[in-house]
Amino acid sequence: MKSLTAIIAFAAASTAFAAPAVEKRTSANLTAITVKGNAFFKGDDRFYIRGVDYQPGGSSDLADPIANVTTCTRDIAKFKDLGINTIRIYTVDNSADHDDCMQLLADAGIYLVLDVNTPLYSLNRDSPLLSYNSKYLQNVFATMEAFSGYTNTLAYFSGNEVVNTDNSTSTAPYVKAVTRDMRSYLSSRGHRQIPVGYSAADVDSNRLEMAQYMNCGTDDERSDFFAFNDYSWCDPSSFTTSGWDQKVKNFTGYGLPLFLSEYGCNTNTREWEEVTSLYSTDMTAVYSGGIVYEYSNNVASNYGLVTISGTTVTNLADYSTLKAKYASVDNPTGDGGYNSTGGASGCPAKSANWDVDGDSLPAIPVAAEAYLTSGAGTGVGLTGTGSQDGAGEDVDGGQSTGIAVTGSGTATTDASASANSSSSDESAAAILAPPSMTPIIVGALVTSFTIFGSFLL
Ligand SMILES: *[C@@H]1O[C@H](CO)[C@@H](O)[C@H](O)[C@H]1NC(C)=O
Ligand SMILES: *[C@@H]1O[C@H](CO)[C@@H](O)[C@H](O)[C@H]1NC(C)=O
Ligand SMILES: *[C@@H]1O[C@H](CO)[C@@H](O)[C@H](O)[C@H]1NC(C)=O
Ligand SMILES: *[C@@H]1O[C@H](CO)[C@@H](O)[C@H](O)[C@H]1NC(C)=O
Ligand SMILES: *[C@@H]1O[C@H](CO)[C@@H](O)[C@H](O)[C@H]1NC(C)=O
Ligand SMILES: *[C@@H]1O[C@H](CO)[C@@H](O)[C@H](O)[C@H]1NC(C)=O
Repeated sequence: MKSLTAIIAFAAASTAFAAPAVEKRTSANLTAITVKGNAFFKGDDRFYIRGVDYQPGGSSDLADPIANVTTCTRDIAKFKDLGINTIRIYTVDNSADHDDCMQLLADAGIYLVLDVNTPLYSLNRDSPLLSYNSKYLQNVFATMEAFSGYTNTLAYFSGNEVVNTDNSTSTAPYVKAVTRDMRSYLSSRGHRQIPVGYSAADVDSNRLEMAQYMNCGTDDERSDFFAFNDYSWCDPSSFTTSGWDQKVKNFTGYGLPLFLSEYGCNTNTREWEEVTSLYSTDMTAVYSGGIVYEYSNNVASNYGLVTISGTTVTNLADYSTLKAKYASVDNPTGDGGYNSTGGASGCPAKSANWDVDGDSLPAIPVAAEAYLTSGAGTGVGLTGTGSQDGAGEDVDGGQSTGIAVTGSGTATTDASASANSSSSDESAAAILAPPSMTPIIVGALVTSFTIFGSFLL
């Protein structure tokens, strides 16, 4: 990163996105969730996320589960039976209609936490500068355009596990820039200020730094919440044995709502004892609940609560245990001891585990700025040409210039040479235990761009 000496501003892609913003039907009878201090609220009441990660098919068989009323109706019945109030979806088709499934979710009292990335449109941790471009942001903004009219859209994730090692912390400024851009899109387009934050990998050595970093600097750059994936409570365990007591201690005084975006260690039989801690005053002053990984079983990782075969859904043992646990664990009365002050963190110092100095962020690509005022237009869905391989774009001079500019030695523009999202995640999972099958990264090409100015990260 130190070798970066130029601002890259991506020139306008040739495609015109002229469609006006159309406010989708609102699921108006579910109260929108707001942030106060370090907690979520539903009206005047503290709101705790009781969620399940929902990605039937996983990243290998990518499908949008809330674009099909048959499948969402089938699964929402299970969500009601389980007693949850939130689902997390890792990838949606932003060209599809979600009105019916979002209304059915609202009718069931269920909120959506939505990742805005797809395998084709996402930051590439091996070449963050090249993948942070206007074509990428157009698709992110189009996803928000499609979902921001629903009152049961609880929050957006700007990224998932982009930083997954100490030596990938240098990508954090790009994650933070995307978060900033998403927040400015909502406000400049007059949408509800839906909370935007990041879902961090289960990495002890930089978790706190990442959280501080996403909450430091000016208000327009700070996130609305922070979340991380956590597989450290493996039954039989306890609040202290799991180290969750330390995660409360370490985050005490943190000024944003905090929750677990994936949890549910499966090395032993899952008794879901962590549910008792998560919704007790041991944790609620600092945490606002969490999301169990995951609804449908993937035989390779085996975290599922149910198996899906055609239209048949079969409960696994973990389903009944979790359902009974949720039913027996109430939220604390009152406000759970939340911190009503909230506020910014200091930026973490550069160190052996944190390869970011200060708080400078890359500027929003010039072409993407137009979307803030004119709207993003239509999303490309799951089948677009991708923001990383540059297909269909004018890449005249782009590739070679891009490499020369970054000079990082890692900025390949060859999609086939770059990390495959699922394989890189699975290998990371073996070491770090986050089993997320989430697509983050696929290719690595770039839209056309021009170079001017200079900046240092
Ligand atoms: C919706 O899902 C059902 C059940 O999997 C399937 O039979 C149907 O073809 C899907 N509909 C569409 C439009 O994809
Ligand atoms: C929302 O309205 C629908 C249709 O009137 C109703 O079935 C559902 O129970 C309502 N949901 C809530 C949370 O009030
Ligand atoms: C980061 O470290 C991992 C293993 O520790 C290594 O495989 C990888 O090549 C490193 N990446 C960079 C960009 O140095
Ligand atoms: C708590 O913070 C300390 C100091 O930054 C760190 O060494 C430790 O790993 C953290 N513990 C957990 C459980 O995150
Ligand atoms: C509440 O949050 C503020 C701002 O982050 C912090 O300064 C203060 O120490 C926190 N109070 C408690 C009791 O954690
Ligand atoms: C990445 O994974 C996809 C889906 O599993 C596969 O089709 C593709 O060939 C893989 N690419 C590389 C470079 O391994």
